[in-house]
Parts: sequence; structure tokens; C-alpha cells
Amino acid sequence: GVSKNIAVLAGDGIGPEVMVETVKVLKKVGELYGHNFTFKDYKVRSDPAPPIHRWVVLPGPPLRPPGRLRRTCRPPRWPAAKPRMRSCLAPPQWKDCEKNALLGLRKRFKLAVNLRPSKVYPFLSHLCPLKPSIIGTGVDMVIIRELVGGIYFGEHKREGDKAFDVMEYTVEGIRKPMTFAFEAARLRRKKVTVVDKANVLECSRLWREVAREVHKGYPDVELDFMYIDNACMQVIQKPSFFDVVATGNMFGDILSDAASVLPGSLGLMPSASLGDGLHMYEPSGGSAPDIAGKNAANPIAQILSGAMMLRYSFQLEKEASAVEAACETVLRSGKLTGDLLEESERKNAVSTSDIGEAVVKALTA
Ligand code: IPM
Ligand code: MN
Repeated sequence: GVSKNIAVLAGDGIGPEVMVETVKVLKKVGELYGHNFTFKDYKVRSDPAPPIHRWVVLPGPPLRPPGRLRRTCRPPRWPAAKPRMRSCLAPPQWKDCEKNALLGLRKRFKLAVNLRPSKVYPFLSHLCPLKPSIIGTGVDMVIIRELVGGIYFGEHKREGDKAFDVMEYTVEGIRKPMTFAFEAARLRRKKVTVVDKANVLECSRLWREVAREVHKGYPDVELDFMYIDNACMQVIQKPSFFDVVATGNMFGDILSDAASVLPGSLGLMPSASLGDGLHMYEPSGGSAPDIAGKNAANPIAQILSGAMMLRYSFQLEKEASAVEAACETVLRSGKLTGDLLEESERKNAVSTSDIGEAVVKALTA
């Protein structure tokens, strides 16, 4: 067995509830497969700063000293001109806070490769807003989004009546997510679609060049290109077309939100952000303050994010698949949280902790 340190950042809202269930599941995996997982909690909100609407698992080793990690989790880029905002809880600032904290974490830990899988479970296809004829043979895609470059991290500037946001990419910065996309495709349906705007943007033309170069090392994988506007259409019109999508920071942001609608609930959407050492695993949804503390949230997205940690951080493929299979077993058995039920059936909703227990049980079976 292996020994691993895992930093747990439960965050706000439903974060702590879904995280408890995830840790339960991971502890069971450790027990069943003889691994030694050590969990350490870190505060991801520090009063009186506004809460971060995210919760994450950061696996080591090595764990960063708590102080440094704590500082990193704090919004690192409060508007410098207004230091008094530091202790301000004014609602308009919350959005900035989430943005800054997340972007800060991504940059600090160089989380360059972001994986956002989106799939429709056949037995839950009634939750997908698309017609059965469009779901077709099934939907199972993963969007690989470059996460530390592009227009998000270029210069942002205001000069009187003019504003700039610079989009910048280097070959190196593209090669990383691109190589990951081809590797991922090899283990899947062997198809990479690069999504860009190469009819307009020079950055996109560079993305295509790098894609063709990386493709040479993966002749068994099919490569094609699609403009972002068309890709937004195709995700709705022919979602079964996609296997692995490789794309830049902003296009990935947009396209992954579109794709997140397909499974029927954000509560089913895990994600992974892979860095230069530390990786981060978080559900794609927010902290759902309206149902926080009610034992009603869907923990599946966080549990599946935990499975991605087993796979990508620890190379424990068998264990990762076992967790995914256990989640599937529970969903298939009809044990569903409220987000997966029609209004009229919500009285039958299963609680967060019961889903966690059921996943643990399915693992053992
Ligand atoms: C996401 C979010 C962030 C992004 C925001 C909060 C900055 O939308 O993780 O997709 O745009 O990357
Ligand atoms: Mn987004």
C-alpha cells in the first residue's frame, strides 16, 4: 500500500457536508486496499474575509506548511488601492473574492491542466435536458482546459475610455494540456477535438500548430479542430460526438458550463486541476448556501473528485474505478438526493450522509 497526505479544504455552504462523506469513502478505500491516507483540515475561509464558494482536496506530498497554504487560500489579490476592503463583507465583493481566491490558487500551484468530465448516465438520462434522440449512443466527454494562461492571466488594463485584456500563449503553455489530452484520449475513445477561434485569433493558430506537433506522437488518436461558436452548438446538438476536448482558459470556461448541463445536475460534476506538485479536486458546483446544513446536498460530485485524486495524484486506477463504480451502483439503485428528483418526488430524497454510507457499502460489496 501507499502512504499519502491529503489536505482537506471543506470551504463554505454544503462544502463540509459533502467533504465528510468523501473522506469517509476515501478512508474505506484505504482500509480495503491497504493504503494509508492521512487527512489534514485547512480553513479555506478566514473571517472576516468573505467565504470562498468552493471546497477542494489538495493531495501531497509534501504538504505545504499550514501558514503558507492558509495564506494561499485567502484572496491573494484584494484591490491594492482599497486595503480597507479586506475586512469588508459587502456582497458585491463576494464575487471578486471567489474569483481572486480561485485564480490565486491556480497560479500559486501552477494548476495548468483542468479536467472537467461530463457524462450522462444512461439510467439517469431523463435528467438530461436534451431529447433521447439527441443523447443518442450516450454522452461521455472530458474537457481539458488550460488553466493558468490565456486572457485570464494576460495584462488587464484600463486607460481612460479604453480597456485591454491580453491573450497570450506560449508553445510550452499549450503543450502541457495538449499532451495530457492525447494521453487521456488514448485511454478513452481515442479522439481529441481542439476547440479554438483560429479563424480570428493568432493564439488559436498557435494552438493548432502545437496540436499537430503533439499529435505526431499519438498516431493512434484522431485529431480534429472546431471553432468555439460551433462547439457550443455541437455540445447541445450532437454531444455524443465529443470524447476529449482540448482548449484554452476562456473557451474551456464557457464550454464546460454548457457541458455541465448535460448530466442533469451540477451535483454529478467532479473536476481536477493538475499542477506542478499539488493537484486540486473540487466539484464543479458552488456552495449552495440555500441547502447548507440540511444534510440534503449531493455528495457525488465531491466523491467523484476524490476518485480523480486516486487516479491522477496517486495512480491508483483500480481504486478510482471502484469508487466510480460504487457511485454508479448507488445512483442506479435509485438512491438519489433532491437535485436528481422531480419536484413531486423530492419527498423521497435520500440525505447526503445516507448517500455517503451507501457508496461505502457499495465499495465493500
Ligand atoms: C470556473 C469559474 C472561475 C473561472 C471564476 C470564478 C473565476 O467560473 O472555475 O469555471 O472563470 O475560471
Ligand atoms: Mn466557469
